[in-house]
Amino acid sequence: MKVLGIAGSPRRGGNTDRLLGEVMRGAASRGAKVKTIILNNLTIAPCQHCDGCLETGRCKVEDDMQMVHSELGQADRLVLASPIYFMGVTAQVKAMIDRCQALWVRKYILKLPPSGSSRRRGLFISVGATKSANLFQPAVTMVKSLFRALDITYAGELLFPGVGEKGAIAKHPDALKQAFLDGQRLVEGTPSE
Ligand SMILES: Cc1cc2nc3c(=O)[nH]c(=O)nc-3n(C[C@H](O)[C@H](O)[C@H](O)COP(=O)(O)O)c2cc1C
Repeated sequence: MKVLGIAGSPRRGGNTDRLLGEVMRGAASRGAKVKTIILNNLTIAPCQHCDGCLETGRCKVEDDMQMVHSELGQADRLVLASPIYFMGVTAQVKAMIDRCQALWVRKYILKLPPSGSSRRRGLFISVGATKSANLFQPAVTMVKSLFRALDITYAGELLFPGVGEKGAIAKHPDALKQAFLDGQRLVEGTPSE
């Protein structure tokens, strides 16, 4: 069982990083092989809508996204973490999502079979500093759309409002514990919705 974590915050050791770390630790404790990609360390250009992927399902832009596509293809479980920036995901995550257009083309235009294993499942992790109404709704909608294109079931989420300072998530009564347990459940099959 391979679990791919994608860290979407530029802030190392921040709140989503801490949650992602616990999910991956939980998954590893159940025997999963875990790997985390830090998007901020990669070069991922925004999608150019060149339509180069329309015939082959492969993105023509050569950068680190080729490696991310390969990791996504091999993962049995995906854990995507992004803080809320202006009511959405970070620019790093949005660039990666848009570059998955090539995978969307594979599924919906070329009708190719999914490249990953069947019954793939994923979790979304997010935090925001405020407690605004619908704080997570745009990001969740976006991530669900990505997961659909990748044939990954949206199997759970860890969403914490009112978490702004770096490391503030550690003061939450049970967020990190919840993350660890969700990591275990993700590889066992029943992460909390
Ligand atoms: C550019 C930027 C935009 C932000 N936009 C929002 C927002 O719209 N709503 C909100 O509640 N918090 C917002 N925040 C606060 C972050 O979501 C918050 O600090 C979060 O804890 C950062 O997570 P991290 O430690 O994983 O990076 C924003 C922060 C930055 C830097």
